[in-house]
Amino acid sequence: MNHFELIDGELHAEQVALGAIAREVGTPVYVYSRATFERHARVFREAFAALPKVHIAFAVKSNPNLAVLRLLAKQGYGADVVSEGEMNRALAAGMPAADIVFSGVGKTRDELTAAVRAGIGQFNLESEEEGEELAAIAASLGKTATCALRVNPDVDARTHAKISTGKAENKFGVAYDRAAGIYARLSALPGLAMRGLAVHIGSQISDLEPSRQAFLKMGALMNALRVEGYAVTHMDLGGGLGVPYKPGEQLPTPAEYGAMVAEVTQGWNATIMFEPGRVISGNAGVLVTEVIRVKQGTSAPWVVVDAAMNDLARPAMYDAWHDFAAVRPTGETMVANVVGPICESSDTFAKNREIDVVKAGDLAVFGTAGAYGATMANTYNSRALVPEVMVDGDKWALVANRIEPATILAAEQVPDWLV
Ligand code: LLP
Repeated sequence: MNHFELIDGELHAEQVALGAIAREVGTPVYVYSRATFERHARVFREAFAALPKVHIAFAVKSNPNLAVLRLLAKQGYGADVVSEGEMNRALAAGMPAADIVFSGVGKTRDELTAAVRAGIGQFNLESEEEGEELAAIAASLGKTATCALRVNPDVDARTHAKISTGKAENKFGVAYDRAAGIYARLSALPGLAMRGLAVHIGSQISDLEPSRQAFLKMGALMNALRVEGYAVTHMDLGGGLGVPYKPGEQLPTPAEYGAMVAEVTQGWNATIMFEPGRVISGNAGVLVTEVIRVKQGTSAPWVVVDAAMNDLARPAMYDAWHDFAAVRPTGETMVANVVGPICESSDTFAKNREIDVVKAGDLAVFGTAGAYGATMANTYNSRALVPEVMVDGDKWALVANRIEPATILAAEQVPDWLV
């Protein structure tokens, strides 16, 4: 459910016409809906009403915009961060350090130090080596780092291979069979307070069964550790719940996911933690683009738009499907290819797809672009870094400026021995 709807024949974000934003800000531009973010945050939280203790940390990587983080902080959300940069964003947005979880397989010494200093609530350790390094850093600062151990359950999430993380062949977490030994050794280190386990098997998950299997394995590991006398008070079940990208696509709802979690975790007597990204942000944003021209093709016309793979990388990277819709649909459709201006064939958004009829100068949107959209944008082909807008009812504001190619050029220099 989202708040992008046709009003008097024109697509609006809440009560704001996308054409009005495009006229002022230009295109391409990401447009987010505050009401949609808030609705998703509420629905996700309500899905776990049956659980006694819950902590929700928004996966900042899915949409790190400061205004988005601020909005979620006001909803009581913490943050799941994977770099010092993301940590500083979450703190800048007003999220308490104690509500921040630091994940990631390659946290550097500097990042670990900064996070200990900031008083981050939980480090999700991805290896014994990382735990030993963090213990030394925390002890040298006279602090204790609160930690969970990320375990690789060797479960296939049945999603795209590039966004699968819970198979033994993936780089994430420690091997399931070694986890208890590592947990025990790390628990003995001064500087660390081991309090739980973490798991995350992948993203855009459309089938709850692999998650259920992974959570059951984590429960068994938790019980084994408790029998050995170790405290396991927190269980971080990660993120990964998928969202519909195609009209009419059916995915498990947060309520269905919540019911599965409630069933599996019954009697765990632990704080259950979540790291949702896409399910909160995905359908809260669209990418608005203008059609540059429609070029004749051999089998189907090429609709060349002014957004490209540098603005929205998912189709090029994962063959992802994003809905393409005219801002002022005529009701007629055509079969076409939708491509950006970048000089490689992977800059393709849709092939031989039935789309709204569009012509040069028309505005259109790519749907479900609030997650892994702007955050993965770059300046390939010396294009601008795409701006972002937040809508709230009938008002809107620019929440990230367009970074012009000239600004990026100004950050480069020619050494005097090359002049
Ligand atoms: N927690 C951890 C440890 C993660 O690695 C991720 C995502 C999440 C939570 C959030 O997952 P979500 O709820 O958003 O599925 N760029 C890719 C997605 C990469 C996901 C990486 N990890 C895409 O555009 O599909």
